[in-house]
Amino acid sequence: MSADSDFYRTLTMVIVGLGVFFVIIIIAANMVSTDGGAEPKIDARVKAKIDDSIKPVGVVNVDPGMAGAAAPAAAGAFDAGAEYQAKCFACHGTGAAGAPKLGDKAAWTARIAQGDGIYTNAINGKGAMPPKGGHAGLSDDNVKSIVDYMINKSK
Ligand code: HEC
Repeated sequence: MSADSDFYRTLTMVIVGLGVFFVIIIIAANMVSTDGGAEPKIDARVKAKIDDSIKPVGVVNVDPGMAGAAAPAAAGAFDAGAEYQAKCFACHGTGAAGAPKLGDKAAWTARIAQGDGIYTNAINGKGAMPPKGGHAGLSDDNVKSIVDYMINKSK
């Protein structure tokens, strides 16, 4: 009885030990196997999904985010309305610093009557209005198209 149970205990330990040994060998083999240095093998569909989920946000989101905008501007096109919101609205949407408000015809009529002078004033600044509204990164043409946008909304 005791000799038998000793034998079975030893046999069990040997079998369990061999099992653990095999698992370790398999894990080690997987870690060492480099597949010739190539990219790990991933199913093409899985790879497409991963690529899709990590592509830059800008590629997915083409809407400039202007609520109520008729149609998203063509990629790369200068969106005068959006630029106005971002760079000129602070003063011209509120009348801050005595800025003529967008849509306030009385405030704009005489300014529009200057003709091209209104562009020059927007580009070079006038009174409390800093040159280009403080946005030196805008080209003269950019400022002109924003001014056109403002004029169209204010006459
Ligand atoms: C810091 C506030 C401020 C910002 C920002 C600002 N403006 Fe002005 N703007 C003014 C003020 C004040 C006036 C009135 C100046 C005056 O008549 O003395 C003015 C006047 C103007 C005029 C009329 C000029 C004229 O000939 O009477 C235009 C056009 C104009 N701004 C365009 C813009 C554009 C385009 C932007 C954005 C790129 C912009 N402004 C941003 C304050 C601002």
